[in-house]
Amino acid sequence: MTREIFVVGNWKMYKTAQQAVDYIELLTPKVAGSQAHVFLAVPFTSITSATAAAKQSKIVIGAQNMNDAHEGAFTGEIAAIMLKEAGAEFVLLGHSERRHLFGETNEMIHRKVVRALQDDLRPILCVGESLVEHQDGRTQEVLEHQLKAALSNIPKTQLNSLIVAYEPVWAIGTGKTATPAIAQEAHAFCRSCLEKLLTKAKAAKVPILYGGSVKPEHARELVSQNDINGVLVGGASLNPETLAAIVRQCEGL
Ligand code: PGA
Repeated sequence: MTREIFVVGNWKMYKTAQQAVDYIELLTPKVAGSQAHVFLAVPFTSITSATAAAKQSKIVIGAQNMNDAHEGAFTGEIAAIMLKEAGAEFVLLGHSERRHLFGETNEMIHRKVVRALQDDLRPILCVGESLVEHQDGRTQEVLEHQLKAALSNIPKTQLNSLIVAYEPVWAIGTGKTATPAIAQEAHAFCRSCLEKLLTKAKAAKVPILYGGSVKPEHARELVSQNDINGVLVGGASLNPETLAAIVRQCEGL
């Protein structure tokens, strides 16, 4: 049986709506026969055009952030229902850049997970330790805390669509990928936390993706690990050739 693998590109604040269309036209034929799920987290203004461009393809479009309220007087913010109507099917929540550059707290991220589920957007919850926490041997403590804070008090039955991404902050955009062994250990630990929060059977089904300087040359070894169900790719996803190369590395596992 082949394993289900997810390749998620995170464009961050790159690509206009037109650039998104050009990219998707190039990527579509390259991933057409792939068994992997191919997701793109695009800027808000590209969601509509990216969704239209991806219509005849297997590519799924999503967003990179959202507000936790259904609607309201929150100047400059965006709601899940708006993303959904624009065509987004999933949303990244708690990305380390949101946590560290924009002050998002675990409590806020919890509220966003609740809102995404209520408004029918698939949440990709990002967790990961900083360099200092890594060096201090606090990785597991941080992961457990982030997962518990984000997912506690949510009925287990509502969490069927959850995806988790483990992204060690020291590996994001630094060119330092975690070794497959280090990543697998963290993923297995995340899964054990999910077993406590959900159930063993449900936790086994949650895709846990690795993110942090993923390149075509590391992808296969990473996704070959038992608890690594795919990759979340930032920098290397900006070029459709490179993302397609990563998707190819994830075939036939
Ligand atoms: P990177 O980014 O692949 O450029 O390290 C990953 C991410 O931020 O999701």
